Amino acid sequence: MRVLGIETSCDETAVAVFDTAEGLLGHRLYSQTPLHAEYGGVVPELAARDHVRRLLGLTTDLTGALGSRELDGVAYTAGPGLIGALLVGAAFARGLALARGIPALGVHHMEAHLLAPMLEDPAPEFPFLALLVSGGHTLLVDVDGPGRYRILGRSLDDAVGEAFDKAAKLLGLGYPGGPAIAAAAEDGRPGALRFPRPMTDRPGLDFSFSGLKTFTRNTAAESALDPQRVADIARAFEEAAVDTLVIKVRRALESSGRQRCVVAGGVGANRRLRQRLAQLGERMSVSFFFPRPEFCTDNAAMVALAGAQRLVAGERDPAGGRPVRPRWSLDDLAPPAAA
Ligand code: KG4
Ligand code: ZN
Repeated sequence: MRVLGIETSCDETAVAVFDTAEGLLGHRLYSQTPLHAEYGGVVPELAARDHVRRLLGLTTDLTGALGSRELDGVAYTAGPGLIGALLVGAAFARGLALARGIPALGVHHMEAHLLAPMLEDPAPEFPFLALLVSGGHTLLVDVDGPGRYRILGRSLDDAVGEAFDKAAKLLGLGYPGGPAIAAAAEDGRPGALRFPRPMTDRPGLDFSFSGLKTFTRNTAAESALDPQRVADIARAFEEAAVDTLVIKVRRALESSGRQRCVVAGGVGANRRLRQRLAQLGERMSVSFFFPRPEFCTDNAAMVALAGAQRLVAGERDPAGGRPVRPRWSLDDLAPPAAA
């Protein structure tokens, strides 16, 4: 089955074609980052309007490059995400499917992130533990098989990506904050400052990152923010955030006994996190699977793959379409099934 994937849940407009026999055939992405940068964060209405502007051009560019072979289905992100942005992708996907006489299917954005490591070689086999770390989510999930997800831990307040974004804003490093913090941290002196590792001193797998943000704000206010000070704070913040994630992943691996762990979502692109988890994997004899960095952040390849898994099982949107879901928990999903 050859599936067109469409991603418009936030500030990336992306399309991709995934073939269940041949793998990923191509993908296109337009990032709205410059559009939102001057506001220091995503402006939902601007995001939706820009998706309208970009989607058709990206799609015709991709399908044109791939030649004449027909598509067998269209998968689009139906949630969670910004409602206006989701509606643009959903309307476009359904219209395209209707015009071509092929099925459409709404996909869960976090399921797509979770399956993104399957775009790589070697792909992880089920079951596995998943660490999903993005701008909106921080989740530890036990994955028994497709659509069989049990959330073991989640953030009780800010998502870790959000904490990166807010810390970067406090330090005047711009948006998006994750890559900006990581770059600034390169010049930070190890051990110059030490930030807390929230909720690691008590049992459990939940996270909290709002205290780390406050600690960052207070530290930033203590003295003048010259470049060395900014770098030291960025370094201390990144180490604390990464350490916190690594400690909880270790705990989840110990308690679940899983031998494989996948890491996905935008923060999964973070080099320090990838290195530290790879080291943990060696110590625990656990195999870690990461998507390439461009498939950690939002993309349509993961949406096409997640949609294809369900479309081949016969799953379809209901006849009258389905509402998009700005909020949608991963554990509401069921295994792929015929509609
Ligand atoms: O998955 P994603 O592209 O979008 C959401 O679904 O939220 O994740 C975006 C988040 C942002 O908070 C961004 O700052 C963070 O991922 N991020 C990073 C890095 N690259 C992106 N955080 C830390 N280090 C990075 N290299
Ligand atoms: Zn995402």
